[in-house]
Amino acid sequence: MDKFVIRGGNPLVGTVRISGAKNSALPCMAAAILTEEEVTLENIPQVRDIETERKLLVAMGAEVELGTGTADHRTRINFRTLSSPEAKYEIVKTMRASSLVLGPLVARAGMARVAMPGGCAIGGRPIDLHIKGLEKMGATIVQEHGYLEARAEKLKGAHIVFDKITVTGTEDLLMAAVLAEGETLMENCAREPEVCDLSALLIAMGAKIEGAGTSTIHVQGVTSLKGAQYRINPDRIEAGTFLIAGAITAGDLTVSDCNPDHLGAVISKLTEAGALIDVPGPDSVRVRVKGKLQAADISTEEYPGFPTDMQAQYMALATQSEGVSQITENIFENRFMHVQELVRMGANIKVDGRTGTVRGPAPLSAAAVMCSDLRASASLVLAALVADGESILDRVYHMDRGYERIEQKLETVGAQIRRMGNVFG
Ligand code: UD1
Repeated sequence: MDKFVIRGGNPLVGTVRISGAKNSALPCMAAAILTEEEVTLENIPQVRDIETERKLLVAMGAEVELGTGTADHRTRINFRTLSSPEAKYEIVKTMRASSLVLGPLVARAGMARVAMPGGCAIGGRPIDLHIKGLEKMGATIVQEHGYLEARAEKLKGAHIVFDKITVTGTEDLLMAAVLAEGETLMENCAREPEVCDLSALLIAMGAKIEGAGTSTIHVQGVTSLKGAQYRINPDRIEAGTFLIAGAITAGDLTVSDCNPDHLGAVISKLTEAGALIDVPGPDSVRVRVKGKLQAADISTEEYPGFPTDMQAQYMALATQSEGVSQITENIFENRFMHVQELVRMGANIKVDGRTGTVRGPAPLSAAAVMCSDLRASASLVLAALVADGESILDRVYHMDRGYERIEQKLETVGAQIRRMGNVFG
């Protein structure tokens, strides 16, 4: 298993290019199920989750050509035949987002057999809202032997009101609705930029959708969709992680090829914490720190609020800020797996229910630590960048699920980081 060895203490200086958004790429790849024609996606990040999704689609009969090595990371997916509308447990267990194929499979093939995602390190993460929505659209769903089996000769448009805002739930049902008979009205939808990416691709494929990016989405079903080409937006979580890397190391870092509009909550919190942020161009953000970082509270919310996917990284920053920061996690239970490891490095953090109280600044000392999930790993990398001495991070495969060659990107801006073991990709 690969490890990262990180020697802390260097300020990060220079420019880092941001990759395409993993959480847009995953639903957009699933959308290819909806047509017999070729779907071409650009700016697909080279991360483990994408390789997992490739395997998932190939097992269903798709031809998938991942554009590794091409300048625009172009990926072609061809679902001329859908030989097996099934997502096996072996694949679903490693990537919960596999449940995104449920809606498009039922819409295209009239049936789907998808393994129930197992419990995950950051909480139970049910998919009951995906199921409820599909049932409203006329699907019959049975659960047996750890699988969900959904059937519908023809999905029908429906009025769906989500009990809770769900990102992949909104995306899954959107993909079902585009080929359903009649009109679908979805309320209390997720407004994340990744929903907009998916919607833009579906519209390019011939779907009739209005309102993506707002909490109400209207879909007029069509009988078939065609192939399309679409460029995935930059990854706002990767961009936010690098902004924090620049701030925590008191560096001068520019993240390029990003979308500053998608980073509003993170930028405003970094500013409150005392970082100097400039937006030098339409696709770049620069962060600098002069003087001391100050404590600032965060509370995770759905977009456009502060993203839960940035909570762990922000907590690493809070350990270096002067004062008391209250960090409240509202989206997922058990999303404080990184706390224990940060405390082992010298952080002063107490967790009570959904809130972590961080007292800073606490000098961090290098340690051997264990990555427990994707964003927790990012938090530990950030802590190691300012820790005194050499830290060893184990289980970096969690990191590889969602960050493209992070060690190379960090190294080019001055971090002392190396990977031990087999280099992914
Ligand atoms: C997506 C993102 C993930 C991010 C999360 C919240 C992808 C591939 N993943 O995950 O990185 O952390 O949004 O921004 O895009 N819920 C239910 N029933 C459901 C579905 C969700 O109760 O059927 C609950 C979840 O347990 C959670 C909340 O709703 O408490 C939000 O989850 P959701 O938005 O669905 O997260 P994901 O789409 O899985």
